[in-house]
Amino acid sequence: MADHTTTARVLVASNRGPVSFGSADDGTLTVKRGGGGLVSGLSAIEDPHSVWVCAALGPADREAVRRSPHGRLDRGGFDVGGHAVRMLDIDPADFDLAYNGVANSTLWFLHHLLYATPTAPAFDAAAAEQWRAFERYNTAFAEALAAEAAEGAAVMVQDYHLTLVPALLRELRPDLRIGYFLHIPWAPADYFRMLPDELAVAVLTGVLGADHAGFHTRRWAEAFADCCEQVLGAEVDRSDRTRLTVEHQGRTTRLGVHALGADADFLRERAHRADVEERLDHLRAAVGDRRTIVRVDRTEPSKNILRGLQAYRHLLRSRPEWRERVVHIAFAYPSRQDLAEYRDYTAAVQRISREITEEFATDSWQPLILQVEDDFARSLAAYRMADVALVNPIRDGMNLVAKEVPVVSEAGCALVLSREAGAYAELAEDALGINPFDVVGTAEALHRALTMSPAERTERTKRLAAAATALSPQQWFLAQLAELSS
Ligand code: F6P
Repeated sequence: MADHTTTARVLVASNRGPVSFGSADDGTLTVKRGGGGLVSGLSAIEDPHSVWVCAALGPADREAVRRSPHGRLDRGGFDVGGHAVRMLDIDPADFDLAYNGVANSTLWFLHHLLYATPTAPAFDAAAAEQWRAFERYNTAFAEALAAEAAEGAAVMVQDYHLTLVPALLRELRPDLRIGYFLHIPWAPADYFRMLPDELAVAVLTGVLGADHAGFHTRRWAEAFADCCEQVLGAEVDRSDRTRLTVEHQGRTTRLGVHALGADADFLRERAHRADVEERLDHLRAAVGDRRTIVRVDRTEPSKNILRGLQAYRHLLRSRPEWRERVVHIAFAYPSRQDLAEYRDYTAAVQRISREITEEFATDSWQPLILQVEDDFARSLAAYRMADVALVNPIRDGMNLVAKEVPVVSEAGCALVLSREAGAYAELAEDALGINPFDVVGTAEALHRALTMSPAERTERTKRLAAAATALSPQQWFLAQLAELSS
């Protein structure tokens, strides 16, 4: 199976890789390194023979692949951060159908319960074509992993984009130890069964190709196990409190709960660099001595930004004492702008923000600061000064903002948190839990958060920070790797 090397003992596969490329006017390629839990997690591996397999996401990435032997960016002269990276130049049309069509418009909507069911989903001929592209895209990953992996290597497959990879890879390389991790929620069985039977079976058996499948919470692992029972007739063993097992067609897959934590060391250092201080000065000047309610999200329908803004409006309407005394800082960064639902959602967020400003702003007070340009340093500055953080997703695999704010907060921050976020499983005791659909209830929780005593806020924030950092990205990664040795 090997096409040039089979030395990799640990492999990671994800759609988005640790680097992306841009191109200058003279054709020079510029490398941008990404962050996030997976990048930090992989840094725990000192083995030089590890390989990260990912997809080229745009034209500059594709050009970098063409300039690299076998798509190995580390061999193409690019500085990709010390690890070997194999980037796949998947046919752009296939990539679009697989990424936008299946991963982000079907699986994402399914697992986050986002469909308006009177009209969607409709699995028609176009959806069937998207699915075939999704199969080819997953096959490209499985083949690349099979080519890179040494005998008996551990392969860590990430997320819903690559849901078919574990089974495809096992078929090609039965010697490998295969792990899978899902970063998003898993849909309840009744909802999951909206998928046509053939696709439902393919998704479940795809994951069951792994020896170990990880989830952020027990709730998502249970939902997956329920689907295996109901759709496949698989045997599920729930007797162990820490893990489930699923038996199907003579194979056993262990399901584990691995709640990714915030990267405390990185955040605390990063949050005090000069660019953050500069943004903090700006924000403080804009807010003055008023209270702040902070939210930071990618602009996705699942993040529930609209109802969050409605709740803030309700707070100002129902409790006028907060007018002039509070500022809502909302950073809503761009995401998946190829999809109409996301563009429409962004426009709706901007619309309601204008309405709030028109209804309440005075000569001396801007009730809302909405920013839509991505700026990590500014997010950290907002975390540092937040009195209240609002994290109200409809549903979320984990939600790292809820974990990052308490780590970075200076004077203590009250956390208003959706009970549908994975993070709620660990933070419930010290957060103010909300039903994300309940706008009035969210407004009331904001009021309670704003009136919480400084001492209580500080105490809660300390406990939240401890819970949020219980499993560092490095430990999170190593624990799953260890599962593949047992
Ligand atoms: O936030 C959940 C998540 O699934 C991450 O695990 C993953 O990196 C990201 O979404 C994918 O987003 P994008 O489409 O921007 O690559």
